[in-house]
Amino acid sequence: MERGSFLTFEGLDGSGKTTQLRLLASLLRKAGRRVREMRQPGGTALGDQLRSLLLAESSQAPVTPRAELALLFADRAQAIAEVVDPALRAGETVLCDRWTDSTEAYQGGGRELGASMVHSLEGLICGGLRPDLTLLLLPPLQASLARARHRNARTLSQTGEEESRFEAQNDAFFERVYAAYQAIAAREPVRVVVIDGEASIEAIHRRIVEVVLHRL
Ligand code: ADP
Ligand code: TYD
Repeated sequence: MERGSFLTFEGLDGSGKTTQLRLLASLLRKAGRRVREMRQPGGTALGDQLRSLLLAESSQAPVTPRAELALLFADRAQAIAEVVDPALRAGETVLCDRWTDSTEAYQGGGRELGASMVHSLEGLICGGLRPDLTLLLLPPLQASLARARHRNARTLSQTGEEESRFEAQNDAFFERVYAAYQAIAAREPVRVVVIDGEASIEAIHRRIVEVVLHRL
């Protein structure tokens, strides 16, 4: 059985990852591929519990940056064992909404833990498993954040689910996240394809399809 491909979507909150992942998944399925959709944090029963711990705005003692980093890698270890590895072995195309680049950008950059701590943990937890292709969506910073805040307010009023812990960070935090993503793209220009600027959902989808068809 030929090993499947591992594609990740990265970018700030509100950059359009989830929208584009769904569009690509549906197109690949129509083309006859077996596709597994995943997200981080989450994607397993343990991961979903960790996700609520990580994303809820808590009135209790704040999660420290290192505890946050450890929880994210616990989530990833479980996701690899339960979902990603088995799916890739079975020849499926795995599409994941965020992966370790998010940790490098948010915990390494945003929380200022630095990239090398993230790389060390990635080596220990993920071994040789790295995405084959990463689509990094980088519309202007303020456009992403405005979309994410609007979406979260809508979700909260519709479902009562509160996932705004990161969006509540200040602009300087997101500027560091944005800069860390740019540094990742500059360091790994083959794996990471940057899709920047403001464009419609359809235009970005067409660009992603071009890239993916060329690579897969
Ligand atoms: P993410 O998963 O990166 O947080 P989403 O896909 O959930 O982003 O998109 C956040 C919000 O922005 C959604 O309401 C979505 O419909 C909207 N959106 C996504 N892409 C675009 C785009 N290119 N232009 C305008 N709005 C968009
Ligand atoms: P996600 O649900 O993808 O948020 P959004 O759809 O708004 O982009 O991710 C939730 C939050 O988790 C997001 O603010 C980024 C954060 N996060 C990290 O800080 N580090 C990580 O390693 C991951 C996977 C997510």
